[in-house]
Amino acid sequence: MASLTLQKQDLFSTNAFIGGVWRGAVSGKTLSVQNPATGAVVGTIPDCDAADTRAAVDAASAAFAKWRNTTAAERAALLERWHALILKNEADLARIMTAEQGKPLAEAAGEIRYAATFVKWFAEEARRIEGKTIASPELNRRIFVTMEPVGVAAAITPWNFPAAMITRKCAPALAAGCSVIVKPSELTPFTALALAKLAEEAGFPAGVFSIVTGLPTAIGGELTSNTTVRKISFTGSTRVGALLMRNSADTIKRLSLELGGNAPLIVFDDADLDVAIASTMASKFRNAGQTCVCANRIFVQAGIYDAFAERLAKAVSNFVVGDGITPGVTIGPLINHAAVEKVRAHVDDALTLGAKSYASVENKMDPSRFVGPLVLTNATSKMRLAREETFGPVAPLFKFTHEQEAIEMANATEYGLASYFYTENLHRAFRVAEKLEAGIVALNTGAISMEMAPFGGVKQSGIGREGGREGIAEYLSEKTFHLGGLKS
Ligand code: SIN
Repeated sequence: MASLTLQKQDLFSTNAFIGGVWRGAVSGKTLSVQNPATGAVVGTIPDCDAADTRAAVDAASAAFAKWRNTTAAERAALLERWHALILKNEADLARIMTAEQGKPLAEAAGEIRYAATFVKWFAEEARRIEGKTIASPELNRRIFVTMEPVGVAAAITPWNFPAAMITRKCAPALAAGCSVIVKPSELTPFTALALAKLAEEAGFPAGVFSIVTGLPTAIGGELTSNTTVRKISFTGSTRVGALLMRNSADTIKRLSLELGGNAPLIVFDDADLDVAIASTMASKFRNAGQTCVCANRIFVQAGIYDAFAERLAKAVSNFVVGDGITPGVTIGPLINHAAVEKVRAHVDDALTLGAKSYASVENKMDPSRFVGPLVLTNATSKMRLAREETFGPVAPLFKFTHEQEAIEMANATEYGLASYFYTENLHRAFRVAEKLEAGIVALNTGAISMEMAPFGGVKQSGIGREGGREGIAEYLSEKTFHLGGLKS
């Protein structure tokens, strides 16, 4: 069935992985997954429903009883093995990812290495779960706080990072002693299933790590309403995050939500332009602009606006649009037709409202699947791309005059995930960093995603943090232990 030739062919699974068993949906229903570059069917997956999800939850609950009683060193050893296997199979995992997600092969391989860093980091963090003692108000009492795994956790993951968003959620869950059920995007399930193959090979016990494939409504409905599931971690849109929050209210679940962004990127007159251009390229065009932390609005101070536009246009002209499997391609397809239509609607709206198409890369591919990178000048706050995430390779340049104006424009959004700015002035660096409303602020760099640093948003960009020390805390609960009546 696999249209992909891999070195380790069994990494490509068309079955879900529930309670340690590779199997289809109880209903027998399947969904097909298409290659976004060509529309060719990559394979089919089980379209699991509430019954399949319940089976995964029951298996996770049974597994949790034993998994929580393993030592941190035992859990760390399994995570280390999983980490090594992910790196060993980087080439196959990247091929699977490019086939279902579209990103260029080199970028997919980069994501596999990025995904692996979370497994390594949380293998190490497993050994650093610590409690505390509290000064007692009585001589015959001691108060201790110990950390316990929250229980069965569920990870609902997006299509834009089919590997890294799984490891960023599951590695801390497993390190903490939780069992975990993943519901990957139905657009990119094969990378998730391949990761599960490697987790099985690493030796995780049955039920500790399950993958339930299929459409979101039935699976999400069961995960949110099932009282055994104690924690849900989701990456995706703010609209779906709010829905999950509402649906989880009756069972009072812990939630981590990594939601939409509308990242500002501010270039001040005193910026190092080489740094600003390189960082803008890295931030704006990663994954063809399809990340929650891609710069969405680029604010450039009047004194360097023309120079910045010219240099950005030159850099953008080097992009090669095409099927991600073709060597040399640097911009792949967008995930589906709806994504292409949204980007085009944003561009049309901007052009109608006075933006200028300053530079664009020719798209020789199917226009219903691919969008050539584009630089727009004369962008204004009236345009849709100022208010909504474009999620595509479009760089709109807004002009500003004063620092305060840039800060106000940057903060004029309900989102607050990432923000970037460029200046060589130390005083301005602190002033601006402290005023930007975002969970992540980057000065003179476009790279902010790394395993040791907390990642997450404020405002409607979400709650909770992934990565860093904070990432494992999301899967732990404090237990306060009062020990009274001590005899002297
Ligand atoms: C995302 O787009 O949701 C995650 C991006 C990242 O990890 O850098």
